[in-house]
Formats: sequence, structure tokens, C-alpha cells
Amino acid sequence: MVNHVYIHIPFCIRKCNYCSFVSGFSPKYTGDYLKALLYEIKSRYKNDAINTLYFGGGTPSLLSPSDIEVILNNFNISKNCEITLEVNPETVEYNKFKQFRVLGINRISLGVQTFNDSLLKLLGRLHTQFDIISSLDIIHDAGFDNVSIDFLYGIPNQNEKLLEFDIKKALNLDVTHISTYGLKIEKNSFFYTHPPKNLPDDDIQANMFTLICKLLRNNNFEHYEISNFSKSGFNSRHNLCYWRNENYYGFGVNASGYENNIRYKNVSDIKKYMENPILRDEEIILTNNQISEDEIMLALRLKDGIDIEKFNDKFKIDFLKKYKPVIEKYCRLNLMKLENNHLKLTEEGILLSNEILCEFIS
Ligand SMILES: C[S@@+](CC[C@H](N)C(=O)[O-])C[C@H]1O[C@@H](n2cnc3c(N)ncnc32)[C@H](O)[C@@H]1O
Ligand code: SF4
Repeated sequence: MVNHVYIHIPFCIRKCNYCSFVSGFSPKYTGDYLKALLYEIKSRYKNDAINTLYFGGGTPSLLSPSDIEVILNNFNISKNCEITLEVNPETVEYNKFKQFRVLGINRISLGVQTFNDSLLKLLGRLHTQFDIISSLDIIHDAGFDNVSIDFLYGIPNQNEKLLEFDIKKALNLDVTHISTYGLKIEKNSFFYTHPPKNLPDDDIQANMFTLICKLLRNNNFEHYEISNFSKSGFNSRHNLCYWRNENYYGFGVNASGYENNIRYKNVSDIKKYMENPILRDEEIILTNNQISEDEIMLALRLKDGIDIEKFNDKFKIDFLKKYKPVIEKYCRLNLMKLENNHLKLTEEGILLSNEILCEFIS
């Protein structure tokens, strides 16, 4: 059974300077893209009951309510399904969002990035601080009470004071969830070919992350995953399916999915996708060992860590014995801890998560 769906919508009004996602395509191709997307869904979806569905992008909030309706009509949506829409502040309009709500969208993920207008401009964003506040008002008025906001830290010219201002401002807003990402300069982005000046170095980024954790944890946000914080009861159920290594469909150009031990990625070229929407760039049948390693990497991102008993039952191994040297090393360094038969990263360990997680991979 596959109970989770990711749908990729690659259109944006303009490409941001730091973005390397398969995104930024002109919305004028929406009609042709939707034809391809519906073909892919009809060919592959097996009518399983869907518990979470996520419209990611790109800018899915550029779609019209009737586009969303046509897509949703293809799925057997469970009663309490979490349906998330990624939204850019400059695309928010009351009537449209009211209709989105009526159609069943019940969670918004708003790309704030920062409240600082000059940093927003430097990032190539189309919105201002004013747009963020007014779009949030509209989103709430339209009936959404589960709203997440995305922040970037480590932006060129940003310092800890500016970041602190951003987070404190966020704490005064009515939001249930906050995601924070350290800015990465990715290949295929404008910043990669035109490196920006005054990029905070790794140490400053680490200090910024520590500051974010402190401010959010002290204000009743649970740090439930490395990059994610939520008010009680508002974890992202969709993203939890990834970290719990559950099956999910990925539909749309460049979408990834995981079904019956197969990880796949659809073609990343939008023209090729529209010509043949069931074409894939990658399809890997995972071995039992690969599945167990994925599960370790993903579970260690979560506050609750790895449930050792469940893991041993599933993979018929003795986890503590197999990974004894690495577990002992990081527990001694106070970067990991064993608690109630769960292995987890400590607050200090989260800062070095990339290095630590790699050591569980053969
Ligand atoms: C898929 S993106 C797009 C969502 C939406 N279109 C927007 O721009 O807000 C989702 C999130 O990924 C993060 N992101 C995108 N590019 C990044 C980069 N180069 N480094 C770190 N985070 C990035 C941003 O915080 C963004 O809100
Ligand atoms: S960051 Fe968001 S709005 Fe900007 S180009 Fe990427 S997907 Fe589009």
C-alpha cells in the first residue's frame, strides 16, 4: 500500500538566484503539463487510500482552484488526509485561497526565507516583508489554521542579529510550523555562476543554527527533525512519511518516489516529461542492507531517533552489536545518546549530523 503522494509543479513567476530545483518554468505551459501529469497519475496510481498529499514546487500556488480540483479528483482521499500546498507570498489572493480551502487543502507551507527586504532582493525574491504579513492574514482569513513558514539562514550579508530579528518576528505570527534551511550554493543556480559576496562561513552558519534552535525551543516549538520545528500536534505528517521510510508516490517532472523497495526519480527535463510522463531517469531496486541504511539515516534526523526493537525486528539484526564501535564513539563524545531503547543525536550531535550519519553507511 502507498498512502502518500508528492506532486511536483515546476512553474514560477521568476527564478530565484539561489534555486536549483526543477522550477522557474513559465506558467503558460500549465495546460500541457497538467495533461501529462494526469496521464502519469492515471497510469500509475492504484487507488490506494491517501493519507497525505503534498503539492511542491516550483510554485504550486500559481495553479487555479479548478486545476487543483482536477488533480485531486483522481485520488481516493482519506477523511483526515493532510493536503499541503507550497505557496509564494506574492501569489496569495483571498478568493482563490478560500476555494483552495473548500477543495480540501488544509495545510500551507509559505516561503518566507527572511523578512529583510534587502536580503529578499538579493535572493531574487519577488515579495517584500509587507507581502509576507499581508499574505499570512489572507491565508488565515481564508480558513487555514495549519500554516508552516520556510526560512533560510546563511544568506549573503546576513548576520546573527538580522537572523534573530527574523526568528523573533516569526514568533509573533500565528504559525504552527517552521522549517529552517542553511543556504546552499547549488550547481544550476545563478549564485553558483555568480558567487555572492559576504556569504557567512560554515562556523557562522552553525552559530546561526544554534541560535534558531534556542529561540524556537524556548518558545514552545518542538525541534522534531533537524530542520523542522512545530507547535504541539503540528508535525508535518507528509514529511514524516519520508523520515519513517514509508512508501510514497512521486508524480510530475523530477519527482522522486519510493514504492515496494524501489526508489525512482522521474525525468528532470520538462519537455521529455510532457512527451512521455512515465519516463524515469533513475530506478533503483534496493537491497535489504540499503533499506536498513536508509532507515538509519532518515530516523536519526528525527528527535525520537531509531526505535532499536522495531529496527531489529524488521531487519533481523542486532543493531547495537552491528554498529557498536560507532555508537560507542559518538555516545562518548556526547553527540549521540541511548534513551528508552532509542538511539538519537544530542543537540550537539545535530550540528555534526552529516558527518555522523555517514558513518552508518557501508
Ligand atoms: C522547493 S522550495 C520552493 C518553495 C517555494 N517556491 C518558495 O520559493 O518559497 C522549498 C524550500 O526549499 C528551500 N531552499 C530552496 N533552495 C535552497 C538552497 N539553495 N539552499 C537551502 N534551502 C533552499 C527554501 O527555503 C524553500 O522555501
Ligand atoms: S525558490 Fe521557489 S519561487 Fe524561487 S525559483 Fe525556486 S521554486 Fe521558484
